[in-house]
Amino acid sequence: MSAMMAFGSAFAAAAILILPGINAQCPDYANYAIQKHQPLSTGRYQLSYMRPEPACRTFNSSVVEDTITSMKTVIKDPDLYRIFENSFPNTLDTAVKWKGVAANNSEEELTFLITGDINAMWLRDSANQMQSYLPLVTANSSSNSLASLYRGVINLQARYILEAPHCNSFQPPVESGIGPSQNQPNPDYFTPPVDSSIAFECKYELDSLAAFLELSTNYYEATGDIEFFRKFQWIDAINTIISTTEALLIGTYAADGSVNTIPYTWSRRTTSATETLDNSGRGNPVQDGTGLIRSAFRPSDDSTIYQLFIPANMMFTRYLDSASTIMANVGNQRNLANHMHNFAGRIREAITKYGIVNHPTYGQIYAFEVDGFGSHNIMDDANIPSLLSAPFFGYLNISDNVYQNTRKLILSKDNAYFMRGPVINAVGGPHAGFGQAWPMASIIRIFTSTDSSEITSTLKELVSSTAGLGLMHESINSFNQQMWSRQWFSWANGLFGQCLLDLKERMPEVLDKSYQ
Ligand SMILES: *[C@@H]1O[C@H](CO)[C@@H](O)[C@H](O)[C@H]1NC(C)=O
Ligand SMILES: *[C@@H]1O[C@H](CO)[C@@H](O)[C@H](O)[C@H]1NC(C)=O
Ligand SMILES: *[C@@H]1O[C@H](CO)[C@@H](O)[C@H](O)[C@H]1NC(C)=O
Ligand SMILES: *[C@@H]1O[C@H](CO)[C@@H](O)[C@H](O)[C@H]1NC(C)=O
Repeated sequence: MSAMMAFGSAFAAAAILILPGINAQCPDYANYAIQKHQPLSTGRYQLSYMRPEPACRTFNSSVVEDTITSMKTVIKDPDLYRIFENSFPNTLDTAVKWKGVAANNSEEELTFLITGDINAMWLRDSANQMQSYLPLVTANSSSNSLASLYRGVINLQARYILEAPHCNSFQPPVESGIGPSQNQPNPDYFTPPVDSSIAFECKYELDSLAAFLELSTNYYEATGDIEFFRKFQWIDAINTIISTTEALLIGTYAADGSVNTIPYTWSRRTTSATETLDNSGRGNPVQDGTGLIRSAFRPSDDSTIYQLFIPANMMFTRYLDSASTIMANVGNQRNLANHMHNFAGRIREAITKYGIVNHPTYGQIYAFEVDGFGSHNIMDDANIPSLLSAPFFGYLNISDNVYQNTRKLILSKDNAYFMRGPVINAVGGPHAGFGQAWPMASIIRIFTSTDSSEITSTLKELVSSTAGLGLMHESINSFNQQMWSRQWFSWANGLFGQCLLDLKERMPEVLDKSYQ
């Protein structure tokens, strides 16, 4: 059985649902995205047109439509352009499952943004799905604007974090009238308990909390709308993030040798080691007092081997620091703003102290995960935050020496999860398995490169490996592009669009080239 079949059937059950306001005749996009639709692109790959018809789109934005039109003259290759026009609007076209206001405050906008083929809102995915439109976001109070969509995601994420700060993905808000979906047939065992009508899945991932800080920073820097942050539950959500992460600075043993009670445990009945935690749901031991925050799971939703997961600590400190600027400007919150800034500084110091290791070939590099006892895991995984993406999310500069050493290792056979082959060469991970390269990692390779030949060869692989469907899949077998996973992965689609908009500013000549 191909990866496509295995994943397609596992996810299809969750996706059947009719959108309020959307015509009942509209096809389920999970089915739509596995078939080719006319007109095909005019290049050698004859890629499907994958936008739903206008009446079936879940959000309309004239600035996004104008951008799609204007990029037509910028992107010269017909197949590359086809993937741009399919993928950039994918979140707006298909994933705005519901938009409205809170039952107890009609000024509080809410946006329920699904990941794509799974009918739940991930904190990480929804923050990044919005980020693809960031270059087009300006201050705007209209409920039809991208800014309103952003505010709705921030407000709903704040509610979710207040309800269940250890969870990664959530059910529709009650106001939507959309019922909850079931994840696993068997219940998961975790502490603290959360009602399954609130959380779709409750894997504690530090980057989910970082995603809220990222989302907030992005909206604030694009709009300057400080008033918004004063109004609803944003400050409360930040307080919850601080108390939750500070509690997870804890090591396995206390100074006197007694075993600490940790604030989060998880186990699942499963045949996959990455879906559960050993040591009775507590994970492998970590040293106390490192200053790094634990993460039970990675952004792939796979469990960490060592819970001091460096990429999420990088992302968290970077956006905690920028969010402290918002807090400083909100008014009457100077202590909290200072606390955030100082906490961010201590995490950065801890990353430098515990997260850098010496490699016999590459010299000083960042480890993917450490335990604070000296053990470390040298690898990278495709999902963001990864080590490869550290400059993308602004933790450090591309020119950073330790980053450059790390990047060389990540993009080589010395990274245990770098998938190589004639179809596509990219970082993968245990989530989709051996041999499965992730387009998302190729996109990040482009974002973090200033070398036009590296960028064009990576783009060429992306254009030629969509199995004719013209969308970004989650993973592609590096020897057989028909073996892909997830036909409807809005984050990866949006990220591809964001990447071409970035290239237009940074290296427009790359978009003049042929990818045939
Ligand atoms: C988007 O616009 C189309 C018409 O072009 C309309 O039929 C559809 O209902 C709109 N979608 C939403 C969510 O407003
Ligand atoms: C409004 O309702 C939401 C959801 O039930 C809840 O989380 C929030 O605390 C309420 N807000 C106020 C101001 O009561
Ligand atoms: C605000 O957004 C609406 C809906 O997209 C748009 O029609 C309007 O022109 C925008 N206003 C400004 C000032 O950008
Ligand atoms: C990146 O480099 C610029 C210019 O040298 C510097 O101002 C900035 O602080 C650096 N950013 C980081 C995250 O180190």
